Amino acid sequence: MSLHRSYRLLAPVYDLAVRRASRAARAASLARLPAHAGARVLVAGIGTGLDVPHLPPGNDYVGIDLTAAMLARVPRGERLALVRGDALRLPFADRAFDFVVLHLIVAVVPEPARCLAETARVLRPGGRAFVLDKFLRPGERAPLRRALNALSRHVATRLDVVFEDALAAAPLLAVESDLPVLAGGWFRSIALVRRAPATSSSSTRR
Ligand SMILES: C[S@@+](CC[C@H](N)C(=O)[O-])C[C@H]1O[C@@H](n2cnc3c(N)ncnc32)[C@H](O)[C@@H]1O
Repeated sequence: MSLHRSYRLLAPVYDLAVRRASRAARAASLARLPAHAGARVLVAGIGTGLDVPHLPPGNDYVGIDLTAAMLARVPRGERLALVRGDALRLPFADRAFDFVVLHLIVAVVPEPARCLAETARVLRPGGRAFVLDKFLRPGERAPLRRALNALSRHVATRLDVVFEDALAAAPLLAVESDLPVLAGGWFRSIALVRRAPATSSSSTRR
């Protein structure tokens, strides 16, 4: 089954399964967004919109998701535009956003590295991304999660993603903070900042 088809089936029960357990972590993650700043904020894999009640007012938000049935449940807001599309091929210009919210999406998509590379592309230098998801640590064996991953990657989420490996594909993103938030640190709240690319003079300087 494709992720798109399984999220179409999961849409009616998603909030029941996820809202309560994730509320505090997602609220803390989104409290880092400014209010009334006119910031351009992308919410990638917005799902049913569980982030929406925690989004500070006074910014311009774009939510993107692959699954129409999930998008149909997002609470509508005046400064929230919804787009059906792929977080691995974002239909936005380079540097189009000040912030990207990546809650429960980096470890869901089949190519986490590509998701982070696309995030780096659409963030302006100095912009930030807020990741909330489940990740293995480098070298962590986690045999049960790796075994379950064979099925779960097709129906809901990958369980084998090492964040540090995915981040290596996005050298313009630097970790600003990395906090364990749920399930004994399996879920982490990670803030990333988009560096400016090195200029040719600084990259050749010794
Ligand atoms: C676990 S849900 C997370 C939803 C929301 N971000 C949250 O925190 O509750 C994963 C979402 O990612 C969406 N999704 C999966 N693959 C995607 C892709 N390649 N591009 C955009 N959205 C995708 C699914 O449709 C689903 O809505």
